[in-house]
Amino acid sequence: MPASISDIRLLLRVKQLPQSSHPRRVFITGGTGYLGSSLIPVLLERGHHVRGLVRPTSKGNLPSGSEVVSGDALTANSYKHLIRPSDTFIHLVGVSHPSPAKAAEFRAIDLVSASEAINAAADLGIAHFIYLSVAQPAPVMKAYVAVRAEAETLIRTRRLNATILRPWYVLGPGHNWPYALLPIYKVMEFLPFVSQSAKRLGLVTLEQMIMALVEAVESPVQGLRVVEVPEIRSAQNTPASEVTRQTA
Ligand SMILES: NC(=O)c1ccc[n+]([C@@H]2O[C@H](COP(=O)([O-])OP(=O)(O)OC[C@H]3O[C@@H](n4cnc5c(N)ncnc54)[C@H](OP(=O)(O)O)[C@@H]3O)[C@@H](O)[C@H]2O)c1
Repeated sequence: MPASISDIRLLLRVKQLPQSSHPRRVFITGGTGYLGSSLIPVLLERGHHVRGLVRPTSKGNLPSGSEVVSGDALTANSYKHLIRPSDTFIHLVGVSHPSPAKAAEFRAIDLVSASEAINAAADLGIAHFIYLSVAQPAPVMKAYVAVRAEAETLIRTRRLNATILRPWYVLGPGHNWPYALLPIYKVMEFLPFVSQSAKRLGLVTLEQMIMALVEAVESPVQGLRVVEVPEIRSAQNTPASEVTRQTA
């Protein structure tokens, strides 16, 4: 079930788009979180099949309509046999409420789960890996950013066909406080010496982020594609026909 008014609005919008002509089989980790729980209903609405890996304690928290499998995201051997026949792997696991105080947890959870997912996907020859990274470089949250840069390096080393999305902060229900920063961002975007950073580290909405993820699912790449904030922002403006046309 959709979790919020914003999810319902997004679903209504997606209902007006033509169905994807190439339904994907999606394996997703971290699907019970803020982004995953908004993304999964949209993927289902678009006609894709979704299998979500959850830890046993979160079994009831995956949006309905998805196939639930359980395992330990920190040990790929616990779930590797459940990935096939998926052609698309979306990795969303991460420590909740990231802060500089959680540096050790980023390495123990975010990095370990990403490395396990990347190696499992590469070993199985999964057609398309989608990784939710973070905008970089950045002047703050160094440990959080460093872990995601390391995971991106592993994706390159393992030569995965992959889409890496790099938002900085996704605004939405319960994630509203940075709205207060929007006027500061606007000013910075006009100052030549900081405008590139302001754009790279800009805020995106939940709707923009979900549409960028959907576009990634429906436009699998050969090689590597990095999607940064300006491109995430434009994903919601992509006409339905374009989303369908880009489908490989
Ligand atoms: N939201 C943003 O603004 C933003 C911006 C840039 C990057 N990101 C990254 O994008 C990803 C998704 O973000 P989000 O906001 O949806 O995160 P979230 O709401 O905190 O959800 C995190 C997900 O990771 C799972 N998880 C956490 N620790 C785990 C563990 N030890 N073992 C197994 N699963 C675990 C959670 O499962 P449970 O439900 O079982 O706890 C949940 O499904 C994260 O990696 C985040 O760092 C987010």
